Amino acid sequence: MKEQPANEMAMLNSAISYVQEVGKLIVDRMKMPLRINEKINHSDLVTEVDLYSESFLRERIKRDYPDHWILSEEANTDTDAYSIMKQPPEGYGWIIDPIDGTTNFIHGIPHFAISIGMVNNGIPICGVVYNPMTEDLYFAQSEGGAFLNSQPIQVGPAKEMSEALLATGFQATDWKPDSVVLEQIGKIAGIARNVRIIGSASLDLCLVASGQLTGFWHDGLYPWDVAAGLIIIQEAGGKVTNREGKPFCLSDNTLVASNSFIHPALLSILK
Ligand code: IPD
Ligand code: CA
Ligand code: CA
Repeated sequence: MKEQPANEMAMLNSAISYVQEVGKLIVDRMKMPLRINEKINHSDLVTEVDLYSESFLRERIKRDYPDHWILSEEANTDTDAYSIMKQPPEGYGWIIDPIDGTTNFIHGIPHFAISIGMVNNGIPICGVVYNPMTEDLYFAQSEGGAFLNSQPIQVGPAKEMSEALLATGFQATDWKPDSVVLEQIGKIAGIARNVRIIGSASLDLCLVASGQLTGFWHDGLYPWDVAAGLIIIQEAGGKVTNREGKPFCLSDNTLVASNSFIHPALLSILK
């Protein structure tokens, strides 16, 4: 393991304390009636708790790291996100999904997370994904390994698609008879152990990192969905590419993640 720069260790520790602090507040707010708003359509939702979590995290980062830039889901537009990640600002940046899995959150399904990825000159350096319901805390630092609640984690050993459990996700509005995701699920379910749609991309990536899932693919994700999970999988020994098989960049629109062993087979099915 590489000796970690003190400032990056401090950022990781700060991110862990921020997500644990805001996680408690999110769980408390869940007991009260939620105000739910549609963003683009009936399946793209935001609650006042997403906005509260985001402003809490932005304020903490601005207070502790006033020179760092921040990209976050509700304060930035989708177009901003891709353009910022194509030419990331210099220096340290924080990429935040204040609640990843908002639909699960709204429906009381205890599978959602706060996700914070940190980059330096656009390169991922640390990531934290926290499920405040289970108190599962996944984190990783470049060349420092990946952890779940302080225990090291690594991807699973499956070498064959027949032993692989995969997950995917989609926007409900993509669910059309001719949609590519339906065809992909059909092809993969035919040869893998099975396919899951669990509803939180950041946690899906962490489940690959900890070996519970063997792989995950998703089109149309945003940097805030994946910035933390990307480094957590890489540090756990997994592989993340775009659909062409090139190393995944935070401006990419397609993502394929796996334990690395099944990656070639998964890519060839998704082509
Ligand atoms: C969503 C979740 C979901 C994925 C969607 C994302 P949100 O994030 O990660 O699993 O399939 O594409 O938008 O909206 O709950 O932050
Ligand atoms: Ca998200
Ligand atoms: Ca979100």
